[in-house]
Amino acid sequence: MASTETKGFTSSFGAIAAAVGSAVGLGNIWRFPYICGQYGGGAFLLVYLCFVFFIGMTLMITEFVIGRRTGRTPIFAYESLAPSKKHHWWRYAGLLGLITSFLILALYLVISGWTTNYFAEALIGAHVGHDSSSITEHFNTFSTSALRPIVFIGVFLILTAAVIVGGVQKGIERVSKILMPVLVVLLMVLCVRSATLPGAAAGFAYLFKPDFTLLTGEGVLAALGQALFSLSVGMGVMIVYGSYLPKDDNLLKTSIWITVCDTLIAILAGIAIFPAVFASGQDPAGGPGLVFMTLPVVFNSMNPAEGLPIGTIFESIFFLLLVIAALTSAISLLEAQVAWGDEYNPAGKKSRRLRNTIIISVLMLVLSAILSLSNGAWSNFTIGGKTLFGFVDQLNSIYLPPLCSLCAVIFLGWVVDKKAIKDELSNHGTIAIPWYKAYMFLVRYVAPIALIIVLITGIVNSL
Ligand code: TRP
Repeated sequence: MASTETKGFTSSFGAIAAAVGSAVGLGNIWRFPYICGQYGGGAFLLVYLCFVFFIGMTLMITEFVIGRRTGRTPIFAYESLAPSKKHHWWRYAGLLGLITSFLILALYLVISGWTTNYFAEALIGAHVGHDSSSITEHFNTFSTSALRPIVFIGVFLILTAAVIVGGVQKGIERVSKILMPVLVVLLMVLCVRSATLPGAAAGFAYLFKPDFTLLTGEGVLAALGQALFSLSVGMGVMIVYGSYLPKDDNLLKTSIWITVCDTLIAILAGIAIFPAVFASGQDPAGGPGLVFMTLPVVFNSMNPAEGLPIGTIFESIFFLLLVIAALTSAISLLEAQVAWGDEYNPAGKKSRRLRNTIIISVLMLVLSAILSLSNGAWSNFTIGGKTLFGFVDQLNSIYLPPLCSLCAVIFLGWVVDKKAIKDELSNHGTIAIPWYKAYMFLVRYVAPIALIIVLITGIVNSL
């Protein structure tokens, strides 16, 4: 355990920047705003806030405890925290997390590749002067073509891998400490532009005005799913980051910081997007279409007839922001794999980080390329009526994360020795934890029941 002090994050700020980097991703910037609008704006937001603070944060603290207590990656963490040998099969919960984060990284890379391509296109002004239908056609042609998306997946993956090779402190922590503030500044610039456009009010109303008639049961489930996804919990990544947290960090405070930042950034993303969408008279349609089909049209409409193409400059800023958000999330996903490789195959004196990063990145590239091709050339191959991309997406949004989360809360709430939990939460009795009972109630009862409901409805609805 002593090694965690030298291998982990060096400061609380670095730790929070890295974890916020993991949490803030594509989910915040395009998924949150459109499901919020779709399910009743302010009404959805209220339910989301309850879920993210009570259930999402409970899970985050749970993963942090498992990780920091053991200083290990998920499979070994579960095994070594189990109270006796007969509980060692809990390591399969860690394995499930590892598989989940592997699959989600493959999907994430495909969308990140699109994002990188759009950033490059925005920079050279490739969308200037195109109308809505030609931009839609451009996206469809691009995302179903064979080579170009894979090239950009490769570019993005090389960036991600380069940070991982740098290590936890000189790679992940340093890059997060620079990129997260940059992300916030870029986001603020876009918010100011969007919020001050004539006609912006309709966008604010779409995002914030509570409409309880739109908040269906499906909306409530979507809020919980999004709360878990947005905080990056339910796949062991936060167990890995937990193992890097400074030993004297207050786990509750750290988790509150991460949750507040993640939620604020999601809301700011909504402000950066919807007022502009409404001001330019576009339809606030959801899905990948919002970012890759609607927004380029919105930015084009900000370009003056002649002079500085200010809209295209904002477009470049937006896609740069999205690349940064995706990058810091992909970093944590790749780190979870690489850290496991290092621990599974202890290198003795020599670190195998470089070798592991290369092996895992090559595997990831192959899998992402297959998923990318399943959108186009290989779309005839289907599983249960879905392309491979759709199938993995479903696995990763409906089944695996709630299942992994359920394992984590049952393990901590019902299996692990209470003394160990108390000891870890209170930093060996050095800080007061008056919230311990409330936390245990959430871990033992509230979170498991909510997760079981999500899992069952998810399975029933997808049959
Ligand atoms: N939280 C990320 C987002 O909002 C997505 C995500 C889910 C993730 N699980 C993760 C990122 C695990 C990193 C690690 O886009």
